[in-house]
Amino acid sequence: MTAFTREHLLGLEGLSLEELMALIDTASSFREISERDIKKVPTLRGKTVVSLFYEPSTRTRTSFEIAAKRLSADFVSISASVSSATKGETLLDTARNIAAMRPDCLIMRHSAAGAAHFLAQRVPCPIVNAGDGAHEHPTQALLDLLTIRDHVGRLDGLDVAIVGDILHSRVTRSNVHALKLLGARIRLVGPPTLLPAEAAAWGEVCYDIRSGVRNADVIMMLRIQRERQGRNFFPTLEEYSRYFCLTRSVLQEARPGVVVLHPGPINRGIEIASDVADGPDSLIMDQVTNGVAVRMAVLYLLAGGVDDEAAA
Ligand code: CP
Repeated sequence: MTAFTREHLLGLEGLSLEELMALIDTASSFREISERDIKKVPTLRGKTVVSLFYEPSTRTRTSFEIAAKRLSADFVSISASVSSATKGETLLDTARNIAAMRPDCLIMRHSAAGAAHFLAQRVPCPIVNAGDGAHEHPTQALLDLLTIRDHVGRLDGLDVAIVGDILHSRVTRSNVHALKLLGARIRLVGPPTLLPAEAAAWGEVCYDIRSGVRNADVIMMLRIQRERQGRNFFPTLEEYSRYFCLTRSVLQEARPGVVVLHPGPINRGIEIASDVADGPDSLIMDQVTNGVAVRMAVLYLLAGGVDDEAAA
């Protein structure tokens, strides 16, 4: 019996350690399916999964589709930019109409924080939050944790530096909820304009990247979210890069064996140097690989596969 029995996955805030580990362990158990010649099991045969994205995505949307198909679910993908949202249909009306077609799970991404919670209270269908504004991105944090555990060998008591555009980062918020459960020492690193006031409650705030990553076991780099920069948070990208880009020289400050993560897409040469992103300490491609397993686990747990064999 899994410890995760919730109807929706809206965020990692409020999950117990048992629920968090159940999600990560279930994901780990699904990984070998993607290594088979025939990457398909019948676990969600007859189930229908719909994705509804109001923001662009490469990794999340694609990996949810691959995950659903590897579990034999039918998958329908809707981009708001080519849906009746462009004719003025509201989010709620769109979701109600999709729910009327009886999907078994609705995955959604929206620019508004709380959008997934809003629908979960109004639509009779399990909802997965694939990113809501600057609020949460729970499956990203789950794949981050699975990747860290693979390479560091543990999740408890880590020194984790999260560097960059913390203000706009839903990835940070989901990771902070999980890392605190796991007893991590968290450092939030960036210019003062990109560090929200609540960051002081999440961990140690640091405005200098060298001291911020010093003795870190894990460095999570964040993308500068240029599409969300309503005002100028720093003078120029060149200046941001000069002070906050993770270079090989800066990486020397971290603990030997440090691992570097980035949720993608990366801005090469702005928040992370190419030789770090593509270097031996980078787990960026492992994160993407683990994204499929995490999303298989989430769909399995929410869309009704819990009584079946995971990998028949
Ligand atoms: N990490 C992430 O959410 O990437 P996408 O925006 O490509 O889905």
